[in-house]
Amino acid sequence: MSMTDTTGATRAAGQASYGFRAARRLGGIGVSEILAIGARAQAMGGDVIVLAAGEPDLPTPAHIREAAAAAVEAGATRYAPLTGTAALKAAIIAKHARDNRLDLTPANIIVGSGAKQVIHNALMATLDEGDEVIVPAPFWTSYLDQVALAGGRVVSPRMRAEDGFRLTPEALAAAITPKTRWLILNAPSNPCGAVYSASDLKALAAVLCDHPQVWVLSDDIYEHIIYDGRRFATMAEAAPDLADRVLTVNGVSKAYAMTGWRIGWGAGPAPLIQAMAAVQSQSTSGAATPSQAAAAAALDGPQEVLADHLAVFDRRRRLVTAGLDAIDGISCPAPDGAFYAFADIGGLIGRTTRSGTRLGDDRAVARWLLDEARIALVPGAAFGSPGHLRLSFAAADEVLRQAIERIGAAVADLPA
Ligand SMILES: Cc1ncc(COP(=O)(O)O)c(C=O)c1O
Repeated sequence: MSMTDTTGATRAAGQASYGFRAARRLGGIGVSEILAIGARAQAMGGDVIVLAAGEPDLPTPAHIREAAAAAVEAGATRYAPLTGTAALKAAIIAKHARDNRLDLTPANIIVGSGAKQVIHNALMATLDEGDEVIVPAPFWTSYLDQVALAGGRVVSPRMRAEDGFRLTPEALAAAITPKTRWLILNAPSNPCGAVYSASDLKALAAVLCDHPQVWVLSDDIYEHIIYDGRRFATMAEAAPDLADRVLTVNGVSKAYAMTGWRIGWGAGPAPLIQAMAAVQSQSTSGAATPSQAAAAAALDGPQEVLADHLAVFDRRRRLVTAGLDAIDGISCPAPDGAFYAFADIGGLIGRTTRSGTRLGDDRAVARWLLDEARIALVPGAAFGSPGHLRLSFAAADEVLRQAIERIGAAVADLPA
């Protein structure tokens, strides 16, 4: 006898073999394209250079590692409070007073397992089916899937290179509808490094004044990776009138080279934080206790590490962007922040390789570079900005030099 389950798969009676059916809410959501490219490159093995992931190669500074080890020895091994330890919340409050002139209390803060979880919490806690979220392109890929997972709909105005890939007040105004719940702003931006000045943010805030249903999620994870002496600005500081509908998201992953510790936080109005805490309480509970001790040590400890890391990234930024820009068919301005080169590869699209493959778009170029030059980069289409390639320069100088050489040699070998 056989039986048919809900997927239409047939199984023999008595055998515990049920067809798998993913929840509808997963829709087309899969593992992020960036992680998939990294995995494919690793599987190729050998000498593939992977510049896909946004992860500093630097070690977590010694004083942070030591503080975490000491905390574990002292018994920091139990469940942490849901929204964060008192010590880490105090460190976060001091950090935002010091760097951003924000006046926060513990009730304004939730600590999560990375900024990614904090953003997920916020969207899950606020979006109803069909609510809209403005995510200007180019964007960090996860925003799209996180909005979809929470039942929302992304509205994605395209930012233009000639505007420095910054959202303009006009484009923002045109994207808002009565269903808009959030504007997600990310600066310095992944993937294009765009930075907003305080007056840029004030101009966006002026548009939002007429639309009280729209909240701002300011993803400041690259705050400290900002070049040429530019001053970082964030919405809650630049437009205090709007602060009661701003969620400021930040974390230690990028600035302190702590990606694996998984600590990020959100700072915003207490009712929003409580709703986000409800989501987190039913998923992961409080973030890992030893990691919270490490993050507190990062924020309370010597901040010279930030300048040290920045100097390393700045040197690599110059190396990579000058190298890419010198290749025929590629144009690569130096980004104002973050650690990605976002190269315009318009001059390569439409060319045909020696083996007869037409490079029809940026995904084809990325595939060709992986196969021929053994270098893994992320196509701009993954960020909503086709015609580009993103190269993460959070890697050793020598590796970056080799990468540029390989790309240059592959492009030079393309038939005219
Ligand atoms: C723009 C942006 N936001 C958030 C994150 C997530 O950071 P975390 O490691 O704190 O989860 C990343 C990581 O790549 C990112 O690029």
